[in-house]
Amino acid sequence: MSGRAGAAVGVFDSGIGGLTVVRELIKVLPEEPIVYLGDTARVPYGNKSRETVVKFSTENVLFLLQHDVKLVIVACHTASSFALPFLERHFKHPILGVIEPGVEMALEVTRSGRIGVIGTQATVGSGAYPHSFAHRNRSVRLTQAACPLFVPLVEEGLPNDPVAREMARRYLRPFTAARVDTLILGCTHYPLLKRTISEVMGPKVRLIDSARQVALKAKVILGEMDLAAGRGRGRGGGNGSSAPRRFYVTDEPRHFEALSVRFLGRRLGDVSRVDVAKV
Ligand code: DGL
Repeated sequence: MSGRAGAAVGVFDSGIGGLTVVRELIKVLPEEPIVYLGDTARVPYGNKSRETVVKFSTENVLFLLQHDVKLVIVACHTASSFALPFLERHFKHPILGVIEPGVEMALEVTRSGRIGVIGTQATVGSGAYPHSFAHRNRSVRLTQAACPLFVPLVEEGLPNDPVAREMARRYLRPFTAARVDTLILGCTHYPLLKRTISEVMGPKVRLIDSARQVALKAKVILGEMDLAAGRGRGRGGGNGSSAPRRFYVTDEPRHFEALSVRFLGRRLGDVSRVDVAKV
């Protein structure tokens, strides 16, 4: 296994939002090479059917596997909700989704057992979160709601705008009514709305940033499998500041490059266009 330690961590998302996961991966695992695929030609996934999302996700994984990845992270909550069980059955590679890490953390921090989940229509409709809680045999009182306008608000650069606050007030009403003490941010874009969501929910409600949790989980998995960067090379892996990171998109890269500042804190300038359907 250690021979593969030099391989990259593969990450895919429906588009740009998965960069919130990359941002946390860079913080938690700075030495890891990363290959990122954003399916910008077919975004959004959040309003598509299970069959379609499974098909797209399979193509995305096949693309990443061509790039010698040792772990695939499904950064997209919609893809994790709809496609993860299928991907786990069909690929031998370790594949990590974003649902479980968020659920685990929510169970760890909730005191009242009243937990909320926000996500895309598809994520909420899929039943992936209720299933995951039920699977753990933990009786929680779960409240879910889709927040479809949050994604465009973030992409338009308005996460702290009064418009976002007004939408948050409307979307989050069921959660204040249910008196949740923990709210899972079940979509790639929502970590960028933390301030606004927290203002509406109040300081006592704990927000679970799935991007952070999945990065921490990736660290555990790579450690357990003896696949962490630097392992195969013995000592002297360096501090990882120059770990190679490659970014691919399925539509023209300019829009993605411009938006990357918001998600990653710096502008990516070397994004390549690929056709994953041809893989
Ligand atoms: N990446 C998606 C998710 O996390 C949000 C954007 C989309 O609908 O494709 O569910």
